[in-house]
Amino acid sequence: MKYRVAVVESGEAFLCAREEHLLQGMQSFRVGTPLLQAIPVGCRGGGCGVCRIRVLSGDYETRKMSRKHIAAEDQARGIVLACRVSPRSDLHIQVLSPPAPSCTLEGTQ
Ligand code: FES
Repeated sequence: MKYRVAVVESGEAFLCAREEHLLQGMQSFRVGTPLLQAIPVGCRGGGCGVCRIRVLSGDYETRKMSRKHIAAEDQARGIVLACRVSPRSDLHIQVLSPPAPSCTLEGTQ
């Protein structure tokens, strides 16, 4: 079963299976063109903290997360690492990490 994950800032949405984490769902979801990049992607294993999000609504399950990146109080408020979360219903999320730097002809921003 797949659930719809909507990113509030960008209006983007993707489908994510309950056995996937949100980054897997985002990266494997295509709508005819490029991979979605709404959530910054780093180590995919809970180690870098770049994929911090807040779940605004919906049910989800988390795997163990480093307290270095997610404090217990934050986790209680729905702040989690996307690479450690699997959906259990449709979700609305907010991306908390800054976007990854992009490259331009003049160099990296
Ligand atoms: S991608 Fe590194 S913690 Fe999620």
